[in-house]
Amino acid sequence: MRDAGHDSSQDAKESIRIVEEADIITARQRVRATAQELGFDSFAASAIITITSELARNIWVYAGRGEVVVERIDKGARKGIGLQFIDQGPGIVDLPKVLKGGLSRGGGLGLGLSGSKRLADEFDIDTQPGKGTHISVVKWKAR
Ligand SMILES: Nc1ncnc2c1ncn2[C@@H]1O[C@H](COP(=O)(O)OP(=O)(O)OP(=O)(O)O)[C@@H](O)[C@H]1O
Ligand SMILES: [Mg+2]
Repeated sequence: MRDAGHDSSQDAKESIRIVEEADIITARQRVRATAQELGFDSFAASAIITITSELARNIWVYAGRGEVVVERIDKGARKGIGLQFIDQGPGIVDLPKVLKGGLSRGGGLGLGLSGSKRLADEFDIDTQPGKGTHISVVKWKAR
């Protein structure tokens, strides 16, 4: 797991458990509110909200349950949102192919992960077969 080293007292973290489908909406709402608080423009806000929808939905669909951690990063000039998507599900088989896009085992377009990677400023993924998946994302506020 990567720790970006955000240690400011103004940073705030909260965790949303994904145990039912409605929790995806809750995660979206928290991220939208955080983007508003930080003054994200509409492009950056849409990007981080879309990432939240896609990756929280993947937790729900493929792992059944998990957690979304929302971190508000506010260091004066440097403002952003850090997200972690954590589950103990089956892990992602064929990760390199999945990241290219178009590979789906869930009947979707297979664009959730690859699209999220493109929309993010920082994107790290740690996945192990049979153990689970941990994805870290950062979206910075445009300066
Ligand atoms: N958290 C996860 N745990 C296990 N497998 C996952 C997880 N997230 C994604 N995958 C695997 O990676 C594949 C690609 O995911 P991706 O979100 O890109 O597409 P999708 O969910 O199949 O379709 P959609 O375009 O609707 O999101 C999935 O089909 C699934 O096999
Ligand atoms: Mg998906």
